[in-house]
Amino acid sequence: MYNTLLTSLEDGIFTITINRPDKMNALNTNVMDDLSKVMDEVANNNEIKSAIITGSGAKAFVAGADISEFTGLDHQQGLALAKKGQDIFFKIERSTKPVIAAVNGFALGGGCELAMACHFRLASDNAKFGQPEVNLGLIPGYGGTQRLVHLIGKGRAIELLLTADMVDANTALQYGLVNHVVPHAELLDKCKSILQKINSKAPVAVGYCIAAANAAATPKGYEEEIFGFGECFSTEDVKEGTTAFLEKRKANFKGK
Ligand code: COA
Repeated sequence: MYNTLLTSLEDGIFTITINRPDKMNALNTNVMDDLSKVMDEVANNNEIKSAIITGSGAKAFVAGADISEFTGLDHQQGLALAKKGQDIFFKIERSTKPVIAAVNGFALGGGCELAMACHFRLASDNAKFGQPEVNLGLIPGYGGTQRLVHLIGKGRAIELLLTADMVDANTALQYGLVNHVVPHAELLDKCKSILQKINSKAPVAVGYCIAAANAAATPKGYEEEIFGFGECFSTEDVKEGTTAFLEKRKANFKGK
């Protein structure tokens, strides 16, 4: 049913596993389209009460948007890519059924953004979080500039956005980016035990809790993010940054 996802349903809990382990589960067009479709399944299948999103393999949750799809994009395509990514991640955030991220390794760039679009996050002790887009001449485009500020506060968020530094699971816990850190082997069981508790509550009330919490954020910042993401695709630096990653070398930015 999905090219890039594995799914399983047990006791009303739907586990969605992004399955490109050889590419660190990077979000290419196929994965994004599958994520959009799977959120329709979450909404429409009455057997599903809540969902977990995780990554396959032992190393990565998701190491970002697929950088190989960024080469050659122009300004308009950049805008469209950010809009599409934001819309798919809004589908997750606005799901009336709880969706939690089981972060089992690297959650970088679009991966950190995906985790943040989920209603809350659990991490395994080997998880690492970051928004390394400035290394590529870019900014986060799938809601990361907004949700990171909301979750960890503006000062910490801007430091992470500008330095591209990664934080480990315990720092993410201290920042409030994740709610729990557990040994890698226990991650899914811990997620399931929390969801079992939530699944016993009144579903309509659960849905309105999510909607009310989401309403604390304003739409303007997301539009600003799309604007900036598009502008970056008008620069020479984005060509240099993405090419340098793919050629496994350090980028040499010129500021234009
Ligand atoms: N897009 C496309 N391919 C990616 C990717 C991404 N975001 N992240 C990893 N990959 C690919 C690598 O190119 C490599 O492919 P190859 O085996 O065909 O050469 C494969 O996944 C394994 O990654 P590799 O870099 O060799 O693993 P590592 O353990 O040395 O490093 C990371 C792991 C996550 C630190 C590193 O892959 C990385 O920095 N990824 C990019 C993170 C990023 O900038 N994300 C933001 C994108 S907007």
